[in-house]
Amino acid sequence: MHYLLLAVLISFTSVLAAQQPIPEVEALLARMTIAEKIGQLNLLTPGGGATTGAVVSDDVETKIRAGEVGGLFGLAGPDRIRTAQNFAINESRLGIPLFIGADIIHGYKTTFPLPLGLASSWDMQLIERTAQVAAREATADGINWNFSPMVDIARDPRWGRIAEGAGEDPYLGSAVAQAMVRGYQGSDLGADTTMLATVKHLALYGAAEGGRDYASVDMSRLKMYNQYLPPYQAAVDAGVASVMTSFNDVEGIPASGNKWLLTELLRDAWGFEGFVVSDYTSINEMSNHGLGDLQAVSALALDAGMDMDMVGEGFLTTLPASLEEGKVTEEQITTACRRILEAKYKLGLFEDPYRYLDTLRPARDILTADNRALARAAASRASVLLKNENATLPLQQETRIALIGPLADSQNNMLGTWAPTGELTEARTIRTGFDSVVPDVAYTYAAGANITDDTTLAKNANVFGPRVVIDERSPDVLLEEALTAARAADVVVAVVGEASEFTGEAGSRTDIQIPASQKKLIRALVETGKPVVLVLMSGRPLDISEELALPVSILQVWHPGVEAGPGVVDVLYGNYNPAGHLTASWPRNVGQIPVYHAMKRTGRPAPTKGAPFQKFVSNYLDAPNTPLLPFGYGLSYTTFTYSNPQIESEQVAAGDSVRISIEVTNTGDVPGEDVVQLYLRDVVRSVTPPDKTLKGFQKIGLTAGESRRVEFVLSPDDLKFYNSALDFVAEPGAFEVFVGEDAHDERYRLSFQLVE
Ligand code: BGC
Repeated sequence: MHYLLLAVLISFTSVLAAQQPIPEVEALLARMTIAEKIGQLNLLTPGGGATTGAVVSDDVETKIRAGEVGGLFGLAGPDRIRTAQNFAINESRLGIPLFIGADIIHGYKTTFPLPLGLASSWDMQLIERTAQVAAREATADGINWNFSPMVDIARDPRWGRIAEGAGEDPYLGSAVAQAMVRGYQGSDLGADTTMLATVKHLALYGAAEGGRDYASVDMSRLKMYNQYLPPYQAAVDAGVASVMTSFNDVEGIPASGNKWLLTELLRDAWGFEGFVVSDYTSINEMSNHGLGDLQAVSALALDAGMDMDMVGEGFLTTLPASLEEGKVTEEQITTACRRILEAKYKLGLFEDPYRYLDTLRPARDILTADNRALARAAASRASVLLKNENATLPLQQETRIALIGPLADSQNNMLGTWAPTGELTEARTIRTGFDSVVPDVAYTYAAGANITDDTTLAKNANVFGPRVVIDERSPDVLLEEALTAARAADVVVAVVGEASEFTGEAGSRTDIQIPASQKKLIRALVETGKPVVLVLMSGRPLDISEELALPVSILQVWHPGVEAGPGVVDVLYGNYNPAGHLTASWPRNVGQIPVYHAMKRTGRPAPTKGAPFQKFVSNYLDAPNTPLLPFGYGLSYTTFTYSNPQIESEQVAAGDSVRISIEVTNTGDVPGEDVVQLYLRDVVRSVTPPDKTLKGFQKIGLTAGESRRVEFVLSPDDLKFYNSALDFVAEPGAFEVFVGEDAHDERYRLSFQLVE
């Protein structure tokens, strides 16, 4: 009892301590006019960057001088940023420095694989290092605030932005969120190489209806708390400096004006102390949602807990009137302004507003050999071996190769979506990877097909430049060239899949197959009888039911980033043994969506695999319930066997941890890494449980023949869930633990009883 009281007192005083006002900020606030405070809440882009909406303010300079801007994004480089910062420092009345923001989603100029690919590495150190490098490069170029990590749980591969997150699982997603926050922010936000991180998009953006971007979301709180909210909260726990709201509504109120979400949950329950920024015009868009005119929705947003308005200027233009009319209070404006100034203070901008503007740094810190080496390693580690027909991979150097496919030498598609700060011309394609990594390998190159022959799809994917270039020659001529190359080779390597802008923001698709032009190419290549390796690029799980059934090998490489070629060729030739595992289930067809591993059980379960069809159970007439490839799936050039699973005790007292271990052996001929996964099944509880949930993973390296006992510790919190009252509880009763190679692997099962 005493201990409990002490703990309460300690946590109370630490909350108080954390909320201590910063004297410099308070002194500044005391000197500010209302208009200047509102000015700090205004985030603008001067254009020239990636503008994803319709609004680009045209008189930014004048506004900065007038103290009407708190931050800018979409500009880079110490010189350009110094000019902007000078308007604020030298020409505005109070000289308050600007935030300089950017979307650095998977690397700055050194572009790493897409986030969905990086997550497939299950390597949190690697992910943290990529974020560190991104922060070092971006701060070298004058940027101090990143609009990343994007942690939206996504279970609908039609949604293009699935590419930007860690996939379908809240446990893995939380680990990735924290690794990225640590990477961007480091332990000292005031350091020259760290920056503010932003967790986005609060909340539930990935659950947009029909996978249509910006569409509505309707979800029970039980599902939110148990499945969708944990990664945002994990980022808050890791000390993320800012939170970006989502475009969608949450229980009927758009996130940007949702007081329950932004105040009760984020601040009161989670203890978030940073600042909240809207998404691009998401405050204004509440008018489209039907919540009133710009003045009404801007007041709604401020009242809900929004601090900064991204480009919509609703705060700037309407808060003065709302204040006068008593619709908002001065205290609300001051509070939002204080949060922004505190973040600027933590960045060290008051001490030295030019601290990120060292003109010598870009050349020294950006696209360095070390950073490129990390990008190459990341491209290898993001790759997932989906199938290895007749052990075709790894390739032998003596083998003559036909390097085919419209993505084999397409520099414009290597970086992937949401890489606005990357340089397409820096990207190394798979073809250049062959030239540099295996210069002695004899290969013949032919595109073989267009990425797509669908001119509408091509046009829609080309808004940021030519991602899909349709060859003037006829498809038959292209195909014939490829088949000639294939017939003369020993092995065909076909680099196929999606153009980079087939995914990403506003990049949803209803058909998630490989485009028809390339499917035809693949079939024709297989018909030559030569072994075919598909190197598959995409920003989402694809429907590859047809291709998986063909006698081909498949290496999924996502959009691998600036070092695509070397990283992928390293895998093809076994310089790196692939160890990526899927972090989102791959459906058999779009009709199965959503299909994910932590689905709830049903009262009428389908019979197990192989059993005859049964009526009146939960199933389809025309396809199994299971995905084509499950969450956690991935092969290696070696094999691993598991044995002798052990649990420390089969009776676990409430509040105790559970220790589980298993012996893992590399039974193949080459060293390799395995991702050992632990799933928990709560057998009996008051709220219907998911079948199983991921509660642990370890990536381990083993030399050929080596064995190691891998240990997992389930903490008391790992046994908890949110019940109907939204209390986070563990309920006594039976639990089952599965340790395996993917979410469907049920070979190694242990059980225990949680006792009161
Ligand atoms: C996206 C955000 C992004 C913002 C600024 C929006 O359209 O949804 O993720 O940070 O633009 O570029």
